[in-house]
Amino acid sequence: MGLKQLALVGLLPFSLAAPFLPRTTPAPATTWNAGATPEFPIHSSCNSTEVIQLRKHLHDMATVANHAIDHILRYGNESTIFTKWFGSAPTAEPIGWYERLVRADRTGFQFRCDDPDHYCGPPGETGYWRGVEVAPEDVNICPLAYTLVPLEALCSRGYTLANWEITSVMVTDLMHRLLHVPSVAELVVEHYANGYTASIELAETNPEETVMNSDSLQYFALEAYAWDIAAPGVGCVGDEDAARAKYEASLASVASTAGPTATATVAATIVSATTTSAPASCHTHADGVVHCE
Ligand SMILES: *[C@@H]1O[C@H](CO)[C@@H](O)[C@H](O)[C@H]1NC(C)=O
Ligand SMILES: *[C@@H]1O[C@H](CO)[C@@H](O)[C@H](O)[C@H]1NC(C)=O
Repeated sequence: MGLKQLALVGLLPFSLAAPFLPRTTPAPATTWNAGATPEFPIHSSCNSTEVIQLRKHLHDMATVANHAIDHILRYGNESTIFTKWFGSAPTAEPIGWYERLVRADRTGFQFRCDDPDHYCGPPGETGYWRGVEVAPEDVNICPLAYTLVPLEALCSRGYTLANWEITSVMVTDLMHRLLHVPSVAELVVEHYANGYTASIELAETNPEETVMNSDSLQYFALEAYAWDIAAPGVGCVGDEDAARAKYEASLASVASTAGPTATATVAATIVSATTTSAPASCHTHADGVVHCE
């Protein structure tokens, strides 16, 4: 051992005594998600009170979507709420859409409030997606939206899942708009069945479509939240027989006024009301409900 090595050995106890001194410069912060947009951008056409309310309702939507994920992860298809809306479908696909509602990147997306396509009325809509050909990442929220049932009032004011429109609740109205936007729904989620009774029927006849059906995703999330959180163990389903009677009467009236093939035509119209139709369009369903993209 030469003199140099002896000198190094002599230094060793000193360097051990100072273990917290950095020996190299730290690695630079990771930039894997540079340019990410984690929050929904809100356009300057929304005024201060609209922004405050919209942010609150988006937070509520994330709460409901996160609860849908939690409920599915806890109970899977042993949940009767799950099988009611998704039948025998696997659980992973709805979890994926709820995840995208909560956590997908929002780059390119915007909420706006200036009603560029003039659907806000009066009487008008609560909001609309501008369509894949006009502005696929634009959702306009109309003043009427702020009159919808807020999440904290779910299962009050007479609201029931079966007898009120799913979009009469702000959280599910927002989900509906966002399930049209490619950055959330990848042009996969569509309208395969609309309304309470038709969506339940879809779970029995075509479960594989329920996990891509906008209304099924909204109904499951809202019912799981209503039953587990808003009115625990009670929920607010309402009168399912009345809902079915209304649905069947509307199908029958369409059939009698427009001929025997009308029911099938209406069903086909609902299915073809896809995310590719643009600009934001409104159409009437078999149960007489006007639906705007
Ligand atoms: C529930 O999921 C399991 C697989 O995890 C499957 O074997 C079973 O058939 C499903 N049950 C229903 C009612 O869909
Ligand atoms: C914002 O717009 C709404 C209409 O959606 C209006 O009622 C309200 O007064 C406006 N708020 C402010 C602070 O200008």
